[in-house]
Amino acid sequence: MAIFDSGLGGLSVLRAVRAALPDERLIYVADSLYAPYGERDDDFIADRTLAIGEWLVSQGAKTLVVACNTATSQSIAETRERLPIPVIGVEPGIKPAALTSQTRVVGVLATAVTLRSARFQALAERHTSDCHFILQPGHGLVQAVERCDTNSPELVALLRSYVQPMLDANADTLVLGCTHYPFLDEAIRSISGDRLKLVDTSVAIARQLERQLDSFGLRAAPAQAQAHNQAQAVELPRFYSTNDGRALRQLAASLLGLDVTVEHIVIPSRRTLALESDPV
Ligand code: DGL
Repeated sequence: MAIFDSGLGGLSVLRAVRAALPDERLIYVADSLYAPYGERDDDFIADRTLAIGEWLVSQGAKTLVVACNTATSQSIAETRERLPIPVIGVEPGIKPAALTSQTRVVGVLATAVTLRSARFQALAERHTSDCHFILQPGHGLVQAVERCDTNSPELVALLRSYVQPMLDANADTLVLGCTHYPFLDEAIRSISGDRLKLVDTSVAIARQLERQLDSFGLRAAPAQAQAHNQAQAVELPRFYSTNDGRALRQLAASLLGLDVTVEHIVIPSRRTLALESDPV
């Protein structure tokens, strides 16, 4: 099964998927050369999501997790229509936040693209009657994680400028609406202490994936997986990146404790081919 993100953020989802579905063979693609998607136009994001999805299908993927809120918000419908495999998307945890917030004030940190998408607007609308959402685009945060910066003084100062106004408005919950942001949980906690409950949906995504696999009859049979594991020990995910993959390797080591090889991959698409022929 395949997991894709604009970059390294999807590793937070991969971690949860590995924990929930240890027998599944995973393939991960980071489109880091073109991250952040949150600064791209809608057509670019849809073009990349589809091209990478098609490449993953050609590699034999039986399902695709679009582990990127930004790509999901822009292109999940088209991707589902065009790919011959089940496609699972992600969305900011507005619903769990609205269910648990005591103060009824909830901060939402996500990319500008996610926040302005029709999909997100509709999701937030369903819960705005009794909950106030403070929407904050996380400019600069994806770039920091892509550099493996999760706690520099500059990053903490940037985070403080996003989080302090939420605390001042009495928020008690913060939705991490981008899969890169769970890497910043310690930095956020250094600012908020325990005043903010952080909502990360990666475990819920893994559960949803489990249900989908069962409903499509695609789950690796345990007996088969056991035999497979005995023969080869537990198989590591295959990692691919559209840039040099160094940051992906570093975060996979620190977050997942995995010493992995990252293969460089070129996945051309209509928009990247146009960029190459007209780089300005
Ligand atoms: N991990 C992506 C998300 O969940 C980051 C998007 C970006 O590259 O800006 O939205």
